[in-house]
Amino acid sequence: MRKEKQKNKPAVYSKKRGRKAPPSRMAEDTGLYLTPENTESAPTIASLFTGIGGFDLAFEEAGFKTTFQCEINKFCIEILKKHWPQVPRWENIKDLSDARIPLSDVWTAGFPCQDVSLARMGQRPGLKGSRSGLFYEFARIVEKGRPGVVLLENVHGLLHSHKGRDFETVVRTLADLGYSVGWRVFNSKNFGVPQSRQRVYIVGCYRDREGPGKILFESECRERDVAPGQENGAESISPFKRVLGNLGGEGPVVQSIAYCLYACSARHTGTDWSRTYVSYPKLGKVRRLTPRECEGIMGFPLGWTKLPENKFQTEDVDSLRYHALGNAVTPPVIRWLAERVKVYLRQKSCAEIAAHTKRELSLCVSF
Ligand SMILES: C[S@@+](CC[C@H](N)C(=O)[O-])C[C@H]1O[C@@H](n2cnc3c(N)ncnc32)[C@H](O)[C@@H]1O
Repeated sequence: MRKEKQKNKPAVYSKKRGRKAPPSRMAEDTGLYLTPENTESAPTIASLFTGIGGFDLAFEEAGFKTTFQCEINKFCIEILKKHWPQVPRWENIKDLSDARIPLSDVWTAGFPCQDVSLARMGQRPGLKGSRSGLFYEFARIVEKGRPGVVLLENVHGLLHSHKGRDFETVVRTLADLGYSVGWRVFNSKNFGVPQSRQRVYIVGCYRDREGPGKILFESECRERDVAPGQENGAESISPFKRVLGNLGGEGPVVQSIAYCLYACSARHTGTDWSRTYVSYPKLGKVRRLTPRECEGIMGFPLGWTKLPENKFQTEDVDSLRYHALGNAVTPPVIRWLAERVKVYLRQKSCAEIAAHTKRELSLCVSF
């Protein structure tokens, strides 16, 4: 697969281990190196711990192409097949080798958070745990594949687990592999998502000290996320209510922003319910969110996790949907990051092409 891809791409510059880096995608912006072969290719992402494809969806909205997915959960795999029937997939990262992953500009990884999450009661095993420890599997293949950019996402608790030592390990491991690393905490509610969801986003740029800062931090304030005003002085509809869609008559009553959704089941066991309820005070009733409402509250298109009835044979598909959604990233935040990664790749590529051209020219002159 990799050989075929490389054969079709013109060599622009070479990176470590003689691998050919992708050509400039935005050459039309600079007038540099404009050839039919390299104007048609989109930047690419390979996603690991793909879940239901939150990274993939958002990067594709920003103009990337998904080259590869890795996911072990059977229900999530069915969702991925529904949205990306053609994309090559692998199940267990433990036996994945970098050679299976097509050459891609960005690798993403929302590695499992259970062992570092504060939502978990009691002792947190941290990166020593069997699930969050899968970060080391990611690092193992990054060491071989050396993508230009890696983007990781995890719960806020990763910053504090084992007094910060787990987070230090993540940063140090990537740094030891040659990546400059930056991170930033974002709350999805600031990206038009009707949910308070704080997550840490970690960016690594291979041998580029300035890269993570350029991607994660903007030099100017962006526009505020305010609800559009209503005519005749009527009250603005909160983003959460807009997801629920049922605004008249007997309710429901909800807060303007939902609490963080966790991976939970459809059964009420006392502890696994999200704190977000939908209440109908006039009817004296309360209910939990439906999976479709959870999709809206995560910023996914409605129906994203719905499968045809004959597709997944279990009585409790709702539980699987709640669980997968609670584990996912909120695509609007990733979309914002993906747009910035795209600009970063474009600028980097142009700078490298310019340096290459300068080198060639100076060789011509010296002849
Ligand atoms: C935090 S979730 C990532 C969710 C994803 N970012 C999304 O938007 O849906 C972690 C994912 O890693 C998957 N996973 C756990 N162990 C794995 C393994 N050994 N190989 C591949 N995927 C695994 C889980 O099934 C889960 O979907």
